[in-house]
Amino acid sequence: MGIQDLKVKFSEKYGGSTEEARVFYAPGRVNLIGEHLDYNGGYVFPAALDFGTTLIVRPRSDGKVQFASTNFPFVASIDYSDIGTAKTGEWVDYPVGVMVELAKQGFPVSGGYDLLFHGEIPNGSGLSSSASIEVVTGFAFLTLLGGAVDTVEIALLSQRAENQYVGVNSGIMDQFAVANGKRDQAILLMCDTLEYSLIPFVTGSYKLVIGNTNKKRGLVDSKYNERRSQCEEALVILKQEVPSLSYLAELKPEQFEAHKDKITNETVRRRARHVVEENQRVLDSVEALKKNDLKQFGQYMNASHVSLRDLYEVSCEELDVMVEEAQKIPGTLGSRMTGAGFGGCTVSLVHEDDVQRFIREVGEAYTARTGLAGEFYVCGIGNGVEELEGVK
Ligand code: GLA
Repeated sequence: MGIQDLKVKFSEKYGGSTEEARVFYAPGRVNLIGEHLDYNGGYVFPAALDFGTTLIVRPRSDGKVQFASTNFPFVASIDYSDIGTAKTGEWVDYPVGVMVELAKQGFPVSGGYDLLFHGEIPNGSGLSSSASIEVVTGFAFLTLLGGAVDTVEIALLSQRAENQYVGVNSGIMDQFAVANGKRDQAILLMCDTLEYSLIPFVTGSYKLVIGNTNKKRGLVDSKYNERRSQCEEALVILKQEVPSLSYLAELKPEQFEAHKDKITNETVRRRARHVVEENQRVLDSVEALKKNDLKQFGQYMNASHVSLRDLYEVSCEELDVMVEEAQKIPGTLGSRMTGAGFGGCTVSLVHEDDVQRFIREVGEAYTARTGLAGEFYVCGIGNGVEELEGVK
């Protein structure tokens, strides 16, 4: 939906004109490689998508903050002084959580606002629709309340909202990518120090194709937390061998080989192996990309999927089937699950001449094997959060 259409919806919903309204946008994200590494202090390699969440904000005079979305029927009207006093269990908790964090930073929402969110990211698909809502809210309110707009700080603030208010124990990757993405560039982010560099994602005649399994991510929170604690368990053991270790991902593959037998629980050992090897794969795949060796990059994507499936065990049948069918298409260089797992999306690098065939054949085979209808998006890499120009 274009901005003008969204403004019409805004006026239908709240009445009055949109002359005083401001329009903000934050994308979704896809992680190219480096899964479940952010909370292990490793490298990740995500990129901002070219679709996301648009937010229209207009001040109102009665002190009420009104929340509405074109995606969900749930609406809320909260007095600004009551922001954060009652959780709803609804999507509104994301922007409210951000407002609670802004208040802690010395930027309480003062006065009333009408808010309309419009999301283009399928919910629950692992493309970070929630991070996109958080970051666009943080950016919009810091801008409106006159705070310094630092996109790294906005990412951290949004992550705290998710961890503390919403109650999901996620790492920094999603909010960081959504806040700091740049068109046609992927972000090599070191999640311990938050040092990052933008790497041109130049793929010539190859396209990124996201495949949505449309399998709703069941149990994702509990399994996610279980993986986190297994990694912490491995870290405690390995720290006895390598006292300087603060995060699992700091361990080099050779160091892991030397000390792995100290981890007696076989499952925990496999989790740690994934972290150590995936971290190395991120660095190797970025090197391959810099040399324009997309074939090699694709092989790292394939290897990442195998590791997530067999060692970290966060894939599921639907993701495996979609990846397997994708890899059968001759123009596919690589394919893997992306995001937390247990459902959600795959990402593949596919020759442009084969994209239509990919969508048809992978789609048909996926439905035949799982009974579900997949969806495919040929996507570009877009910008991070911004105020949209020319619409004030
Ligand atoms: C989810 C979390 C991220 C990250 C990924 C797995 O998207 O929100 O912080 O841990 O899973 O890589």
